[in-house]
Amino acid sequence: MRTNTGQTIHLEDYRPTDFVLERVDLTFELDPKETKIEARLIFHRREGVSQAAPLVLDGDELRMTGLLLDQVEISPTLFDATDDTLTIHGLPETAPFEITVTTLLSPETNTKLMGLYRTNNVYCTQCEAEGFRRITYFPDRPDVLAVYTVNIIADKATAPLLLSNGNLLGGADMGDGRHFAAWFDPHPKPSYLFALVAGDLGVVEDTFTTASGRAVALRIYVEHGKEAGASYAMDALKRSMKWDEEVFGREYDLDIFMIVAVSDFNMGAMENKGLNVFNDKYVLADPETATDADYANIEAIIAHEYFHNWTGNRITCRDWFQLCLKEGLTVYRDHEFSADMRSRAVKRIAEVRHLKSEQFPEDAGPLAHPVRPTKYREINNFYTTTVYEKGSEVTRMIATILGRELFKKGMDLYFDRHDGQAVTIEDFVACFEDASGRNLKQFSLWYHQAGTPLVTASGSYDAEKQIFSLSLEQTVPPAPGQSTKEPMHIPLRLGLLLADGSDAKAATVSGADLTEDVIHLTKRKQTVLFTGIPSRPVPSLNRGFSAPINLHIEQSTEDRALIARHESDLFARWQALNAIALDNLVAATAQARNGQPATCDNALVAGLISAAADDRLEPAFRSQALALPSESDIAREIGSDNDPDAIHAGRQQILAGLAEAGRDIFTRLADDMASSGPFSPDAASAGRRALRNSALSFLVYGDTGPERAAEAVRAANNMTDLSLALTSLAHRFPDANETAEALAAFKQRFASNALVIDKWFAIQATIPGSETLDRVKTLMSDPLFNGNNPNRVRSLVGTFAFSNPTGFNRADGEGYRFLARQILDIDPRNPQLAARILTSMRSWRSLEGVRADHARNALTEIAGAANLSADVSDIVDRMLES
Ligand code: TRP
Ligand code: ZN
Repeated sequence: MRTNTGQTIHLEDYRPTDFVLERVDLTFELDPKETKIEARLIFHRREGVSQAAPLVLDGDELRMTGLLLDQVEISPTLFDATDDTLTIHGLPETAPFEITVTTLLSPETNTKLMGLYRTNNVYCTQCEAEGFRRITYFPDRPDVLAVYTVNIIADKATAPLLLSNGNLLGGADMGDGRHFAAWFDPHPKPSYLFALVAGDLGVVEDTFTTASGRAVALRIYVEHGKEAGASYAMDALKRSMKWDEEVFGREYDLDIFMIVAVSDFNMGAMENKGLNVFNDKYVLADPETATDADYANIEAIIAHEYFHNWTGNRITCRDWFQLCLKEGLTVYRDHEFSADMRSRAVKRIAEVRHLKSEQFPEDAGPLAHPVRPTKYREINNFYTTTVYEKGSEVTRMIATILGRELFKKGMDLYFDRHDGQAVTIEDFVACFEDASGRNLKQFSLWYHQAGTPLVTASGSYDAEKQIFSLSLEQTVPPAPGQSTKEPMHIPLRLGLLLADGSDAKAATVSGADLTEDVIHLTKRKQTVLFTGIPSRPVPSLNRGFSAPINLHIEQSTEDRALIARHESDLFARWQALNAIALDNLVAATAQARNGQPATCDNALVAGLISAAADDRLEPAFRSQALALPSESDIAREIGSDNDPDAIHAGRQQILAGLAEAGRDIFTRLADDMASSGPFSPDAASAGRRALRNSALSFLVYGDTGPERAAEAVRAANNMTDLSLALTSLAHRFPDANETAEALAAFKQRFASNALVIDKWFAIQATIPGSETLDRVKTLMSDPLFNGNNPNRVRSLVGTFAFSNPTGFNRADGEGYRFLARQILDIDPRNPQLAARILTSMRSWRSLEGVRADHARNALTEIAGAANLSADVSDIVDRMLES
């Protein structure tokens, strides 16, 4: 039977706490098995709160050994400690009082990686969202802001380093083999931003001088011996600090900024005030072990966590329903940062690919929820791509609707008005309304209505009157708990291309508001008339992906090809090529399902190959142009009754056609794009590597034997080239001796570097076909696998379930049964990790009947298991509902 199903929390039930927390004083006596924590909390009763109201604090798996009121033991008749709360009666009417709570914890056995735990002999905390209550009883909610003093006592030999938030007050030897340090954070903060790290680590140091001339000490802590691997992260940090000053006018506000890299971590990284904790995967990089994608991720995540200092920490969330207030906005900020550091168009293409492959399926399935939800059972399950990535897109749309200047004015007002507060999405939106004088009420539906809007468009041209008319219709699909939807405010950037590729300039536009090249769709149906158009134009809609929508437009391949060749917006060119490719791939799927050979139309071949060959375009863009939509992109486009084997077979045939037709170009590119000189991770060099590797993978695809791929593996002198060559070899020739040898050599060479071994697991977990399940099972007993480490589990089990459509969705259902067993195995140790991996089944309802039945059975088996965590039962119940 379930023990912990989690109660549903509703936004409408929000009310402030009865007691105001003024100050927090924590003392940690660290020990792997028995850490003692004394928390001294100063409260006063909020004005107007009844004298009888007790103080109710949150807790989770705590062992309390002491409870004092103003240093006097509280009688057991006056308090009640349950599994998840501590209730204290008889507290002073108005005067401030001090509660002292003593708890004992065992960091060593904390496998959930929430609260205080040990990773590689380092003590470390993770408190967002509700981890602080696993350290002591506390009002553990984001609207309780307080100033913290933290005293850390630990063994000097094993924990020479004692870190917490804020500035170091001092420290001393205690004479008994232990030492202590005291930290003070002057900025009031919610408990989820608390952090403590203690252990023996190496450090990389630097300084940053802020715009107003203050010197900030920068420190990145990593395992001893890995210091050199932190230099790219340090560089990214300094660039982030400078960028936030220049673009958002935000300066850092403490004397020191620290980052600690740890190897056991549930997510990417955490923005604790002044002491960010990172999954080491997003800190450590050198050319031998990190790919260009790793470098780009490190840059983005370092920036993301740093940017939280203002968007999240200085201004935080009133409650967890407002998570997108900090996450959506901060993702938007890190996207803009990366766009400024790299190629804006290529960055946008990568963002949209990611949004479509991760967020669109979430929004179309049983786990769909609004960007600002109104209820949850387990908040950990709402750190989703909808809250993060769609939340970022919603912020981007505000910038699009208001324009650069007014958006900036709104942001400035937000920082000014709400600094030091815990606020809501309504507060955020009001700043843009007040700064611009615009009404964003209808726009706000983007926060409240789940589901990806569908816009259907059709155009007609009246040559005599020189009028182009564009008919647009929007529908928002139903989502769990939301059956009827209101029309949304959709900002659609567009161009009308004439036959020579130039932009037609309309004399007048009617039927929709227009700002620059954006039309504002606000009604269910709208017809927009453009006058003074000299010849039939080709509409290029949703330039730059100005709105996160599905767009259906009846458009000939020739018209799409015109956009692909001539659009001034590079993103729109890619979008047009992608649409041509998707048409082909959907058709190829149907052909494969009917046992017919799939054919690849000439426009696709010509479009891709001419983009790839066009030396006027940047290599990174050409590489994106060559990357066909993935098998899950095709499944999403088809929408229902999906057969992953047919999708795969059809796509393989299209790939074969392209490999054949483009052989000469690919051969030239593999040569032209070869690098000379030392490795540099910059975007331009990465782009050349990307194009070369795309070309190479087509060539390998067209090969009948593994020699070329095996040679590319041998020749690679950086991890980008090596991992892509190994992927090509293993995926194209899984059973060749060359593959077995290359995999063995890779393993041997990198056996001591777990992050590289993760790539080795992932490459093998994504080999297409039904045989891979056995391979994955075998790899799970490899000594390098470790079921307790989230990165290992994600690389092998997670990658298999999320990124191997034919392997995971085996027609006999074995993939789902395997996943069910894994989930039930992981759940007792680490529920957050188990629940996250289980979301790989979020699109099960769009599978064809036989697979869908197998999937339902596997989910039902999970749902029926004893002692499920709140995390997993929440996900599995929602996936089976309705
Ligand atoms: N707030 C973090 C970020 O987006 C992510 C985060 C949320 C997290 N919950 C977590 C990280 C739990 C680790 C564990 O930057
Ligand atoms: Zn974040």
